[in-house]
Amino acid sequence: MRPYRVICHMETSLDGKINGNYLEIPNANYFAKQYEALHQTFNSKAWICGRVTFEKHITYGKQIDLSQYPDTFVPREDFVANTNAPAYAIAIDPSGKLGWEQGTIHEDYEERHGQHIITVLSENVSNQYLAHLRTIGVSYIFAGKSKRSDLKLALDKISQNYKINEFMLEGGGYINGSFLSAGLVDELSLILAPMVEGTSNSVALFEYGDNPFQPVVEFTLEKVEPLENGGLWLRYQLK
Ligand SMILES: NC(=O)c1ccc[n+]([C@@H]2O[C@H](COP(=O)([O-])OP(=O)(O)OC[C@H]3O[C@@H](n4cnc5c(N)ncnc54)[C@H](OP(=O)(O)O)[C@@H]3O)[C@@H](O)[C@H]2O)c1
Repeated sequence: MRPYRVICHMETSLDGKINGNYLEIPNANYFAKQYEALHQTFNSKAWICGRVTFEKHITYGKQIDLSQYPDTFVPREDFVANTNAPAYAIAIDPSGKLGWEQGTIHEDYEERHGQHIITVLSENVSNQYLAHLRTIGVSYIFAGKSKRSDLKLALDKISQNYKINEFMLEGGGYINGSFLSAGLVDELSLILAPMVEGTSNSVALFEYGDNPFQPVVEFTLEKVEPLENGGLWLRYQLK
């Protein structure tokens, strides 16, 4: 039995899509606000997103000039910059692509401003990237050597080092799929917006990429709460 639970908290359209133009229409604003408000109802002080989501919403694709750091060997040991933060934002970024500029979430993201960043890396990232993270105060942990992180190892370490017993898994679809495949999703918290957009290239709630065979995962309905504007808040437990 793991000493922590993982709740996948997401907003989706009626056809299970998590991105696309449906999130840009005026009525979508209400659901984005509900997403944040319902996030706050959980006791968790740690949330997890994939590299693409952080790049899109937090680092805005910024790349850091690493030539300012010497290529001196940095031991592949976890770096803990802060264990006293109000909450933790956890990025799964095996190749160290995210261009962090500070150790906390910036003020553009009002509701989560000041939360401490922990990034999950593979041991193959460069010495300069690690030197940069240490300089700006981003915590990091190593979760194996490959581009597919050992997600259980990552959560085991973070749970122990930062005293976390509940994680919010908050997308996108590919990172959600990786956690589900690894048996690391215990609950679903879905904000269902009554909208459909007929595109086939948007991302679904769980995606598996080049890992096509997946066993069926079943959930038990715990709670349905109507939202305004025709939405629903759905809570499921892993069966
Ligand atoms: N509606 C919602 O509630 C919601 C919430 C969050 C995000 N979103 C949307 O979701 C979209 C992004 O979703 P996405 O699925 O494309 O991206 P994502 O899940 O945010 O990130 C995918 C990346 O995470 C890394 N990754 C995935 N599985 C991994 C594993 N097993 N081990 C190590 N690294 C792994 C890989 O990074 P590398 O490529 O660097 O290897 C992969 O490319 C955005 O449009 C965002 O706005 C919606």
